[in-house]
Amino acid sequence: MTVTLSEIQAREARHVLQTYKRQPVAFVRGQGPRLYDVDGREYLDLITGIGVASLGHAHPALTAAITEQAATLLHTSNLYFHPYQAEAATRLSQLSGMQRAFFCNSGTEAVEACLKFARRYWFTKGTPRQEYVAVSNGFSGRTMGALSVTWDEHYRTPFQPLLGPVTFVDFDKPEMLATAVTERTAAIIAEPIQGEGGVRPMPQAFADAITDACRRTGALYIADEVQSGLGRTGRAFHSHTLGLSPDLMSLGKALGGGVPVGAALIAEHVAETISAGDHGTTYGGNLLSTRAAVCFLEQLMEHGLMEHVQAVGAGFERRLRALALQHPSIVEVRGAGLMWGLQLAGDALPIVEAARERGLLVNRTQSTVVRMLPPLTIESVDLDRAVDILDAVFTAVGNEVLA
Ligand SMILES: Cc1ncc(COP(=O)(O)O)c(C=O)c1O
Repeated sequence: MTVTLSEIQAREARHVLQTYKRQPVAFVRGQGPRLYDVDGREYLDLITGIGVASLGHAHPALTAAITEQAATLLHTSNLYFHPYQAEAATRLSQLSGMQRAFFCNSGTEAVEACLKFARRYWFTKGTPRQEYVAVSNGFSGRTMGALSVTWDEHYRTPFQPLLGPVTFVDFDKPEMLATAVTERTAAIIAEPIQGEGGVRPMPQAFADAITDACRRTGALYIADEVQSGLGRTGRAFHSHTLGLSPDLMSLGKALGGGVPVGAALIAEHVAETISAGDHGTTYGGNLLSTRAAVCFLEQLMEHGLMEHVQAVGAGFERRLRALALQHPSIVEVRGAGLMWGLQLAGDALPIVEAARERGLLVNRTQSTVVRMLPPLTIESVDLDRAVDILDAVFTAVGNEVLA
């Protein structure tokens, strides 16, 4: 299909619900960390569809797996067995130490499942609990449940009343957690590194406060690892790096490498309170999506992907910290592995736009943060090139950030 950007824009403006503010570029092809637009222009992709194309674009193993699966059998529903849910669940259990997986189609659905399972746990125990504790700047999705534990009021206000009560606690005030979490709290939900919230790693003191609060009140901990999980930080899960033992975990994004799939992981003491029919989805865990998940997990577990992230991530971090020293508009560098944010002194938009004009894709979160989520397979030479482009961009338009 040959089509121009302006034709696509005109048709979308007429017929697509205007819930997104797109950037003026349309992609038609990708290869590894590179994307190509309708005019054949090449871009280095450091955002990967918001942390999704974990193996890069058109990865040969993933392409082969889903091509073969598409030509064999796509979907039979959860009425019947097939081989790939069990395989993906076994691997996720090996990685997480959590016994069971529930498959769905997105990160939001994984969060939604965790919120339900937490209430189900307390209902089964005979002491129902409805309340949740979440974190300021946290983002967990936009269905009614996930939205309820998402911090930004701008997203929540038009849709009230939501699930509740939900209390939000600041990452830098772990002592607030002790008062917020009570014997009415079903679960605490927190991202080990906030993604949409501006790439903010959970402080160790906050992680320790979660452990204490759960121990004291019995509240469950839901680790929302949709963005930070599955090797992104160089370890399987950043909650493990922080010494946390989640009762529930939400996953998505990287898991299918671009094929929509999410998963809720459930520790056995919670899983045993859940019965057939308590939750379900027609598409969840179908052959295509779980085959893709198995392919990604094989790459992660057997092809040294986490070691690769640690190695190239360390070099990337060094270069980003050096970049910050050169440019006064960068006030902080935050992240781990291959999940990084540059906290700017002002609006990040001029940087994102100038980078795109120079063939580099990064994105803006929380207005003032430049976020980078490169493919886990990226090589140092490409990360170096990305930093060189950023250097040129900050030199050219860094003063607009400071203005
Ligand atoms: C931490 C976290 N949880 C949940 C979600 C929602 O995932 P999805 O957009 O796949 O529904 C996101 C999406 O950005 C996320 O970053």
